Amino acid sequence: MAGIRIRGYGYAHGDKVVTNDDLAAMVDTSDAWIREKTGIVSRHFAEHRSNADMAQEAAEGALRTAGLTAEDIDLLLICTFTPDLATPSLACQVAGRLGTKPDILAMDVNGACSGFVYGCTAAAAMLVAGSARRALVIGSEKISPMMDMNDRRTCILFADGAGALVMEYDENGLFESVTGCLPDDQILGCPRFDPAIYMSGQEVYRFATSQVPEAIETLLAKVGMDREDIDYYVCHQANLRIIDSVARRVGVDRKRFYTNIETTGNTSAASVAICLSEMMEKGLLQPGMHVVCAGFGAGLTWGAMLMRI
Ligand code: UT7
Repeated sequence: MAGIRIRGYGYAHGDKVVTNDDLAAMVDTSDAWIREKTGIVSRHFAEHRSNADMAQEAAEGALRTAGLTAEDIDLLLICTFTPDLATPSLACQVAGRLGTKPDILAMDVNGACSGFVYGCTAAAAMLVAGSARRALVIGSEKISPMMDMNDRRTCILFADGAGALVMEYDENGLFESVTGCLPDDQILGCPRFDPAIYMSGQEVYRFATSQVPEAIETLLAKVGMDREDIDYYVCHQANLRIIDSVARRVGVDRKRFYTNIETTGNTSAASVAICLSEMMEKGLLQPGMHVVCAGFGAGLTWGAMLMRI
């Protein structure tokens, strides 16, 4: 168990709100179907913003709420599968925009929709090892250009956005995680060129509703805590029905699972980061509280992490 605390938070959205009716005007779907099957009512697309624009805004919010400047950061991880460029990394682009110090370690982490759990896990390990003092971990995605807008099975689900946390070592803090990868590139993926996300929705649904509860139970057993010791749960925002099912299987009141998928859609690696930032902003997460976050997605990757605020 690592002594980590969250010091700052921030988030950003795409510039265009896209409603279910907007999508129904483009593809054979309906507001009723999308709401009933996913819980999504609207989402944001980044029409005039790059991934770096959103990541930068989230990062600046996290530095501001932490009372820090970019020079205080020595580890910058951006969790994304949709960087603006193949190289340099999104992290290098954002480091340049923020004006971080030259001896920073800046790199992207691609864990798909588990990306933020993967990134925080890597950051926590480096903070505890002493190879970094303060980490800026950002989940940021611009997925809208990677979707086939004629494919109603995927284009209704994904969206754009970014969330960021400043993490630092604190002996009174707490961080623990469990992660995994069950390699399979057929169920869910996105080609490198001429990209369009492909997904077998039902297989991902089955994977998520079995793997995520198991991951949460394994995590709680690892730290010797009971599900009732956890103040809030945050699941990757992929489908409200998946979150309902996870809450049922873990045996926790659904009210303790925070959601924003209704107006944010599925922002992959950004989803957990945006949720945590919103919760901090609303004052839902107070010092001493415990939050468990879980992700699942292409890879197939999965992960769950526990943080003490
Ligand atoms: O973050 C990455 C992880 N991804 C996920 O977690 C996604 C997990 N999966 C899901 O959320 C669900 O599988 C979906 C919401 C994507 C789809 O729901 P489903 O109940 O699994 O639908 P389905 O793919 O089994 O399709 C059922 C029917 C089909 O029609 P027929 O063949 O039965 O006539 C589809 O063609 O629903 C049809 N359909 C749609 N109808 C209206 C599929 N997409 C749509 C749509 N609007 N957008």
